[in-house]
Amino acid sequence: MTITQTQRDELVARALDARRHAYARYSNYAVGAALLAGTGKIYSGANVENAAYPTGMCAERAALFHAVSEGERQFEAIAVVTENAGMPCGACRQALSEFGLDTLVLVANTGGKIVSETTLAALLPQAFRSDQLPRG
Ligand code: THU
Repeated sequence: MTITQTQRDELVARALDARRHAYARYSNYAVGAALLAGTGKIYSGANVENAAYPTGMCAERAALFHAVSEGERQFEAIAVVTENAGMPCGACRQALSEFGLDTLVLVANTGGKIVSETTLAALLPQAFRSDQLPRG
């Protein structure tokens, strides 16, 4: 997936901005994400933790679920920002893969530097897809 330099800059900026709203009082690991949809719109998300730990949600899925809830179904790229440019977790990779494996993944640090640039296909080889489900 190719996106313009302006779109890349905007995605990282939006992920950085979303990260400011992370609710990460238990892990102290704030994450921001920004997802570029096929329509050109950007949807952002931050991680939201909970005293009942498993109830929390990652930034990437917060952004994805927001976008899908607004009618989006196709995604060009996602930017993820953490202090140390940590990679997206497996659950987020799987959730994003539902909508295609070509999505560009940009992982940046809080200085706005892109440390890793890859695709969902590379991050989730042999993904579980809907065509593996039995037809009823
Ligand atoms: N987290 C994300 O938001 N995205 C990821 O891909 C990895 C982990 C969050 C979940 C939790 O709030 C904190 O980072 C520590 O795991």
